[in-house]
Amino acid sequence: MANNTSFPCAIILVSIVVFLINSSNAMPSFNVQKYGARGDGKTDSTEPFLTAWSLACGSEAQAMVYIPHGTYLVRNLVFSGPCKNIITFKIDGKLVAPKNYWSIGNSGYWILFAKVNRILVYGGTIDAKGAGYWSCRKKGGHCPQGARSISFSWCNNVLLSGLTSLNSQNIHVTVHHSSNVRIQNIRIRAPTRSPNTDGIIVQSSSGVTISRGVIGTGDDCIALNQGSVNIWIERVHCGPGHGISIGSLGDHADEEGVKNVTVTNSVFTKTRNGVRIKSWARPSSGFVRNVEFRNLVMRNVGNPLIIDQNYCPSGKGCPNQSSGVKISGVTFANIKGTSRTPIAVKLDCSGSHHCTGIRLKNINLTYMKGSTTSFCKNAHGRASRVVVPMNCSSKFECDEAFGQN
Ligand SMILES: *[C@@H]1O[C@H](CO)[C@@H](O)[C@H](O)[C@H]1NC(C)=O
Ligand SMILES: *[C@@H]1O[C@H](CO)[C@@H](O)[C@H](O)[C@H]1NC(C)=O
Ligand SMILES: *[C@@H]1O[C@H](CO)[C@@H](O)[C@H](O)[C@H]1NC(C)=O
Ligand SMILES: *[C@@H]1O[C@H](CO)[C@@H](O)[C@H](O)[C@H]1NC(C)=O
Repeated sequence: MANNTSFPCAIILVSIVVFLINSSNAMPSFNVQKYGARGDGKTDSTEPFLTAWSLACGSEAQAMVYIPHGTYLVRNLVFSGPCKNIITFKIDGKLVAPKNYWSIGNSGYWILFAKVNRILVYGGTIDAKGAGYWSCRKKGGHCPQGARSISFSWCNNVLLSGLTSLNSQNIHVTVHHSSNVRIQNIRIRAPTRSPNTDGIIVQSSSGVTISRGVIGTGDDCIALNQGSVNIWIERVHCGPGHGISIGSLGDHADEEGVKNVTVTNSVFTKTRNGVRIKSWARPSSGFVRNVEFRNLVMRNVGNPLIIDQNYCPSGKGCPNQSSGVKISGVTFANIKGTSRTPIAVKLDCSGSHHCTGIRLKNINLTYMKGSTTSFCKNAHGRASRVVVPMNCSSKFECDEAFGQN
């Protein structure tokens, strides 16, 4: 009897399981190979990728664009929305750009997601093969403007997870005019001397989280430009490269500010800078407020903590002017390690718009060839438990020192 009743129960259970498996498989999947893409590294697969995208984007149900294992040669890919439902973009293979750098270098973008709401991009490797382009630039030849490798513009609700980006012509990843963007487990690599190969650049976007990244490039690992709001960066390994930067800001007179930024639990190895706020020395409506840099390790870093409001490379366009960008409420806390230069802390603030509310807490940065020092101009705030001697021309309160080394 017991057997007779449990038998139908088992059938119902099995049917439920089968139903669940089927319904998860039911998401329409558009495999690029079905539309002619070849994973042979030679066949131009641009059109098949665009076909798969437009079918997925037009699907009433949630849909997937699937890129199987293999190496796909693709030129500029613009994936435009809005789409009818959530899109999953799953990359098991590798995308490579054509050898001739002119092929993608003229448009500014290699892979661009534009005006897409709700997009999940998983896995994959993209290699823009930027070396030829960099050497064109170094020779000062006639070169195209250069392409960013993967970009999200005017997108909302984005997940970029597990991507590897190699050798971009210029910036690896850009996020512009977007909101609610999560970038996780990203790997970015370009040689130390490759020009302007920044890792990730955020601009005019809010709610951007970058976690668990390994970024080594020839420029900033991450840069937050004007209009970056509610940004959270954690567990990033940066190096080689120029560090994590807010700015350059103040490039334009009329500019959006940067606010509510946290950079935490990250490590910088042999970078030119650690954490930096940088603005041009000229008038601007921009500002930086409510920033926290905490729980950071510096290993042999050029300028571990730096605010530079006198940025004016080649002295053009900003003679004798001071930055209009107002910096306030910036905390540097729990930061340790080694500085490659004696000036471990540099707070070089604007003469017309002093930095206010600067807080230094529990900082221990050492210099291999002697004691570290600081440079501090037009900066107001407080320091406690800081090993680096604070030598400020403006009013800076120092509570307790760690004892100097
Ligand atoms: C600051 O940004 C974080 C995300 O990084 C967000 O959770 C928080 O609500 C923001 N705070 C304010 C006051 O907007
Ligand atoms: C900038 O300052 C230098 C030295 O003080 C001076 O010689 C020069 O004329 C100034 N330039 C402008 C544009 O004010
Ligand atoms: C402190 O600042 C003054 C004036 O800027 C400078 O002359 C001096 O060398 C600095 N001392 C240290 C230890 O950096
Ligand atoms: C600062 O760091 C150095 C090197 O790691 C260490 O020897 C020293 O004890 C630290 N000082 C404090 C006050 O923690």
